[in-house]
Amino acid sequence: MKILVTGGAGFIGSHITDALIAEGHSVVVLDNLSSGRIENLNPNSHFIQGDIRDIALIDRIFKEHRFEIVNHHAAQMDVRKSVEDPIFDAETNIIGSLNLLEACRKYSVGRFVFASTGGAIYGEQDYFPADENHATRPESPYGVAKCSIELYLHYYLSVHGMQHTIFRYANVYGPRQDPHGEAGVVAIFTNALLAERQCVIFGDGKQTRDYVYIGDVVRAHIEALKKGGESETFNISTGIETDVNSLFSMLSKITTGGKATVQYADARKGEQKRSVCSAAKAEEVLGWRPAVKLEDGLRSTVEYFQKALA
Ligand SMILES: NC(=O)c1ccc[n+]([C@@H]2O[C@H](COP(=O)([O-])OP(=O)(O)OC[C@H]3O[C@@H](n4cnc5c(N)ncnc54)[C@H](O)[C@@H]3O)[C@@H](O)[C@H]2O)c1
Repeated sequence: MKILVTGGAGFIGSHITDALIAEGHSVVVLDNLSSGRIENLNPNSHFIQGDIRDIALIDRIFKEHRFEIVNHHAAQMDVRKSVEDPIFDAETNIIGSLNLLEACRKYSVGRFVFASTGGAIYGEQDYFPADENHATRPESPYGVAKCSIELYLHYYLSVHGMQHTIFRYANVYGPRQDPHGEAGVVAIFTNALLAERQCVIFGDGKQTRDYVYIGDVVRAHIEALKKGGESETFNISTGIETDVNSLFSMLSKITTGGKATVQYADARKGEQKRSVCSAAKAEEVLGWRPAVKLEDGLRSTVEYFQKALA
């Protein structure tokens, strides 16, 4: 199939591109390289450097390539940045996404696969783990934008018959994650530990997240693509809560034999206390369940960063 992967030079999008190409699909990557990297690009993909906010460019690409599926990963993905600059966040995450959706409608693309968020869309949870029926109460412009695009996808389905698959990711981690941003605690800690720099935990470190390995995320995409079918929303998560203190201890053990120390700083305003999502629906519908244990995934991630830093 002919597939457009937006954000295909980034962390998650590049792994998905690799898997789609390995499955025999033809992939065009659209990425403005704002956080993505040329080194992440699959050499067998067709790369277009450009911005999803550039409506004329989008139209040209869709006219030329006639995609069957759009897999949308390009985003401003930093929650804190979205709080500082909600307009920029909306320009990329709402208007940029809408540019793609309109092009899909115009050029009759069959399915839109959307990288949404399980962490930021539910807000402080009423119950644990959250399933897909949990109320959506995003507490950041980033979460609001993801929620909006989910709503647009329901509109495009009901009015224009465009199918979608929405993946609400928990905290994805693994090789190629950007360690220099504000998001992605596994990459940030790993990079700091390997460079013998002090890790900083904001707050008491008891805040929890659900960490899912990139290889598992990629498998969910491949399963969903094979399955096709109705438009659905899936949490892609492990259902396991891990607090930041435990995460640091595990990484410290792998990288320094547990000798590294951590510094505590003031809690960040508005940071969610607990976040964990159930992937029971993905298991039931797609036959997908996470296979990589956190400790194993962290080891693979550390090995990757060791090589990258060498
Ligand atoms: N990493 C996670 O834990 C996580 C969790 C939930 C959802 N997501 C979503 O998954 C997607 C991928 O995230 P990631 O972790 O791989 O981040 P990433 O920053 O590595 O990837 C995003 C990619 O989009 C590109 N991009 C940004 N703005 C663009 C624009 N205006 N036009 C074209 N390209 C643009 C960047 O250069 C980058 O390559 C995002 O939509 C993000 O919101 C990620």
